[in-house]
Amino acid sequence: MPSIYLAPMAGITDQVFRQLCFEQGCDGATTEMVSAQGFLTAPKDRNAYRFLLAKGEEEGALAVQIFGSEPHFIAAAAARLADRFSSIDINMGCPAQKVVGGASGSALMKTPELAGEIVAAVKAAVSVPVTVKMRLGWDDAHRNAVSFARVLEDAGADRLTVHGRTRMQQYSGRADWETIAQVKQAVRIPVIANGDVVDGASALACLRVTCCDGLAIGRGALGNPWIFSQVKAALSGQAWTPPSWEQVVETAMRHGREMAAWKGEKSAVLEMRKHFSWYVSGRRGAARVRTQIHLASSLTEVEALLRSLDAENC
Ligand SMILES: Cc1cc2nc3c(=O)[nH]c(=O)nc-3n(C[C@H](O)[C@H](O)[C@H](O)COP(=O)(O)O)c2cc1C
Repeated sequence: MPSIYLAPMAGITDQVFRQLCFEQGCDGATTEMVSAQGFLTAPKDRNAYRFLLAKGEEEGALAVQIFGSEPHFIAAAAARLADRFSSIDINMGCPAQKVVGGASGSALMKTPELAGEIVAAVKAAVSVPVTVKMRLGWDDAHRNAVSFARVLEDAGADRLTVHGRTRMQQYSGRADWETIAQVKQAVRIPVIANGDVVDGASALACLRVTCCDGLAIGRGALGNPWIFSQVKAALSGQAWTPPSWEQVVETAMRHGREMAAWKGEKSAVLEMRKHFSWYVSGRRGAARVRTQIHLASSLTEVEALLRSLDAENC
């Protein structure tokens, strides 16, 4: 059966959210991205890194994702992190200006030789698998995913996750699964397809087109950790029942309470605003509740708002 991963999402895929996804059948996840240079030079107790690198006791296969452009920095960061994670993932897909401005993330697709040197340096520094998350290229004129993937394979990469868009597309347009299929055909290492898998039907379609070894799901999991059980059911040809609103509220509140236990209620209520907005997605009255959630200052208030939707929808 193909593996179904949670795609890394900065600001979202922390240990609490990952745990909810693992419980629904997710086969592996990745931390939010961590700057190699920042991590190496940050004081050890800096909260940002403590939170970024936190790993729940019951988490399954968890990769740490590192970004940077200097092979020796990335390798040094990987060496310090390798004993706490099941693999090292190198970010060669992030389109954000502050990342590509430093020649990291998807900017590495413009410098395949350097990308290969990074993979080789990390491979030499750690004994866990080394994987890469990449895109189709920088822009339409430079869609070099196939040759780039071969360079990474030759450098020793153990697996590739390919997001079916160029850097210039950011997150717009439709993911191009056909080009992901070409990458899969061009290399011997496992390839994971990524982009626009939002339910069981799109998961089956993506696997049919790409013939990949697995899928990585990003935005489809927002407010919806059940997508993993849905996709798993589709893969095994079983019926799947969506969660009731009661189950959605229970999960959303557990998400909030665990965030509060981790970071304190004040931070949790702020950080959870986006998650609560996703949990109510598609419900009648969602727009009103979203506005009110942005004004709420406690989880008790949020729970009352979520439960008020139940009455509106019956
Ligand atoms: C809010 C957000 C944050 C993201 N952060 C990262 C990241 O830190 N590292 C990374 O490799 N990809 C990151 N991505 C890209 C996703 O992993 C994924 O490639 C992309 O969303 C396409 O998959 P999807 O259509 O399933 O969402 C991010 C995407 C979003 C929407």
